[in-house]
Amino acid sequence: MTEQKATNVTWHDGEIAREDRNQLLGQQGATLWFTGLSGSGKSTVAVALEQALFQRGKLSYRLDGDNIRLGINKNLGFSADDRTENIRRIGEIAKLFVDSGVIALSSFISPYRADRDRVRDLHMESDSAFIEIFVDCSLATAEERDPKGLYKKARAGEIKNFTGIDDPYEAPTQAEIHLHTDKMTIEQEVDVIIAYLEQHGFIDSQ
Ligand code: ADX
Repeated sequence: MTEQKATNVTWHDGEIAREDRNQLLGQQGATLWFTGLSGSGKSTVAVALEQALFQRGKLSYRLDGDNIRLGINKNLGFSADDRTENIRRIGEIAKLFVDSGVIALSSFISPYRADRDRVRDLHMESDSAFIEIFVDCSLATAEERDPKGLYKKARAGEIKNFTGIDDPYEAPTQAEIHLHTDKMTIEQEVDVIIAYLEQHGFIDSQ
């Protein structure tokens, strides 16, 4: 648990409730938490989903590992502690997005189950929807794709603590959605997620 350092601080509610914002946007805010190996396709499916939602008039916003690490989390590396802090901060940010009524699409390797479960708990505490999406593909496939050439570098010992090579990845055991990106097309993956969002009332059926 991260220590609360500031004292004499209290949460201040506004006059507009989450339900009002959901109504304004015509959707229910939620965090869609994509987890999987580097190169598994997390960002790719998030980008396609964002586009599909936008076309239906639904507002989502992507929080993406590489992008966030160039900004708010630029002071974090890839040690276990830094990855934990990376996920904690994103979890807090995603929770704020849910409160704003937006569908947050969060794509981080998030290799540790305990870190993801903490984000889930954080959402549950504030009655915020958390949907874990396991972007599953074999290490062999991710390594074959190697879109950024990082596996090659990791195998050559040029990158240390690379997930799947010399750092662990703990697969989800109870993800709400399980995508097999080495067997499904991007369209199929998007359809599965959209169907879930419709069935659970986050967006209207068309
Ligand atoms: S996480 O483990 O803390 O969730 P995150 O998703 O933010 O990772 O960042 C992963 C991205 O950082 C990868 O897609 C890759 O581009 C890059 N990266 C650089 N070094 C590493 C490393 N040692 N392990 C994993 N990814 C790395």
